[in-house]
Amino acid sequence: MPSDPLRPGEPRVLLTAAQIEGIVARLAAAMSARYPAGAVLIGVLRGSVPFLADLVRAMTVPVSVDFMAITPYAPGQGRVRLLKDLDLDIAGRDAVIVEDIVDTGLSTAFLRSELQRRRPRSVAVCTLLDRRVRRVVPVEIDFAGAEVTDPYVIGFGLDHEGRYRNLGLIAAADVELLTADADAYVAALYGSTDTAEVHESAHG
Ligand code: IMP
Repeated sequence: MPSDPLRPGEPRVLLTAAQIEGIVARLAAAMSARYPAGAVLIGVLRGSVPFLADLVRAMTVPVSVDFMAITPYAPGQGRVRLLKDLDLDIAGRDAVIVEDIVDTGLSTAFLRSELQRRRPRSVAVCTLLDRRVRRVVPVEIDFAGAEVTDPYVIGFGLDHEGRYRNLGLIAAADVELLTADADAYVAALYGSTDTAEVHESAHG
């Protein structure tokens, strides 16, 4: 869709619901093939919830689900701490951390080392989105959905100030426009079909 010159920051859909469905199917198939005896999927609250819900339903092996939550020690400090721990014991089991997006990598690196200490058979990382350009800590991603470069994205679990997690698509968020007129911005997303800037990752 050609952009409206009156609205230079027109919302841009990065992944449609159908594209997300395709990514989920691909990742679920890869994970089912990797773990024929099943795995424990660990959702990172709260952004991973829609992705995790679709992922587990597309998997064809026995799956357990649990959740963890982390929070920064202080804004901009780059350190995180555990807010909610697992209920399950993952010792001897194959565990997969399920993320909405791996950005700086700080959260995922922290969670991976935290889980390693519990002596699982393996720990893998599955993420819907990978923003490698922002990486601060190296993180090995075993199952990757799509790569993004946009500085901020919303939808399908990803929020801006607690909203938009329930959008069925993923869009580049112009934070200024969102703040100025959030409802008009989100309404416009559903009329936009420009998907040029997202490339499905080759790996995963
Ligand atoms: P990290 O920088 O890799 O530790 O990412 C931490 C968390 O920040 C992610 O799991 C997301 O929940 C959140 N996050 C990072 N980038 C975005 C974004 O563009 N939109 C919404 N949430 C984000």
